[in-house]
Amino acid sequence: MRVIAIDGPAASGKSSTAQAVARRLGWAHLDSGALYRAITLAVLDNLGNNEEGAKGKGGGWGPQRIIALTEDLPVRLVLAGAVFRPEVAGVDVAEAIRSERVTRRVSEIAAIPEVRHWVNVRQREAALDYPQGVVVEGRDIGTVVFPDAPLKVFLTASPEERARRRLAQRGGAGGAGLSDRTDPDELRRETEALAARDHADSNRAVAPLRAAPDAILLDTTDLPLEEQVQRVVALAQKRFSG
Ligand code: DC
Repeated sequence: MRVIAIDGPAASGKSSTAQAVARRLGWAHLDSGALYRAITLAVLDNLGNNEEGAKGKGGGWGPQRIIALTEDLPVRLVLAGAVFRPEVAGVDVAEAIRSERVTRRVSEIAAIPEVRHWVNVRQREAALDYPQGVVVEGRDIGTVVFPDAPLKVFLTASPEERARRRLAQRGGAGGAGLSDRTDPDELRRETEALAARDHADSNRAVAPLRAAPDAILLDTTDLPLEEQVQRVVALAQKRFSG
């Protein structure tokens, strides 16, 4: 199986690392979070912004209604070049899924077992579309989706550093040099928001965020992106040679 599983909490550097590693190896890149986000977007646009959300019974967002919607629209991952892009009803939603209203509700959707099952099946199908190899990022790739992946990496970084990266991304500053200008209150709020999402993702009943026992842990708090990428590429070259 030519799969590299990259897991870790929000803003630990998964996306940039996974994208760069895939490009360097000539493999495809698959972001499983994008699929959870695309489903969330589809639900908010088509089933209404039900505050009861995933907990709602009958008139709420029942799992069956969500799955039927994702099948009917459909919500899909479409291979464009070597990148799997999220689509809803034939429209690319790579940007729309990053909106605040999706970010706020995605943990609820990702906690529904039927949704996780649906997403996992799509990911395994997608991997078959790119036999050269796929770098898959998420929270449960090494533990649940591809437990037999020959290389599993679990990225971590301190909550404050992750909050800093999030703010830098949002401000378009690209990270470096941001620390001098960061408003301490904003940084504290972002750190708390990330901690809340980590908590929700780590404590849910199904497939909580956690490193697989055979994952290689990489703390990226003080590690430049280029070095993270080089380390994972070197590991991949060793694991997948021959
Ligand atoms: O990585 P992200 O922020 O785009 O992920 C969006 C949400 O989806 C996040 O709340 C965690 C969830 N997720 C998950 O539960 N399992 C995955 N494999 C990927 C993401």
